[in-house]
Amino acid sequence: ADEVARVAAAAPDWATLAAVNRPCVACPELAATRQHVVVGDVPSGGRPRFALIGEAPGANEDETGRPFVGRSGALLDQLLGEAGLSRSEAAVLNIVKCRPPGNRTPKAPEVARCSGWLRRQLELLDPPVVVALGLSAAKWFLGPRTVLAQVRARPHEVDGRAVWATYHPSAAIRFGPRGAPRAGLLEDLTAVAGALA
Ligand code: URA
Repeated sequence: ADEVARVAAAAPDWATLAAVNRPCVACPELAATRQHVVVGDVPSGGRPRFALIGEAPGANEDETGRPFVGRSGALLDQLLGEAGLSRSEAAVLNIVKCRPPGNRTPKAPEVARCSGWLRRQLELLDPPVVVALGLSAAKWFLGPRTVLAQVRARPHEVDGRAVWATYHPSAAIRFGPRGAPRAGLLEDLTAVAGALA
């Protein structure tokens, strides 16, 4: 974790950070099983209006090297549109940059080792608003005891940013089109759009 943090902190810009992140082997199991380090997407030209932060790449993301390109990404794009937001003005990042085998939840030491990358990404991109998608991202910003239902639907100030924590699109898929996570995710994205306006 210290080595990642040191290398990441030394990167002066996004392109350099991405280039040093891509060959990362800090987590032996993830490095041995992943296809790509999914560094994240950033809008071309300037500071993102907001950042969307997921948990870790899934199979489609691992294969393509891009974040949120599978089923979760399609639903995310749809709900962003319904909320009046566009992915093109957002940085799209993950807590952990490599796909965990079988899409298991990233382990605490993996999150800890990977944190230096995200910390430097946030420093360099400086998004004024962050949307943490799902519990792993919510915990990263708001602490390990975070309960999503208790923190969602309002911003929390963290290091000078407005952090919103909400459901992950995969939960919205799992619980179905009439489930609470989908409604909550859309409600929260709509509130974010209102706060950005
Ligand atoms: N789920 C995530 O949390 N992140 C991705 O990039 C894709 C799916």
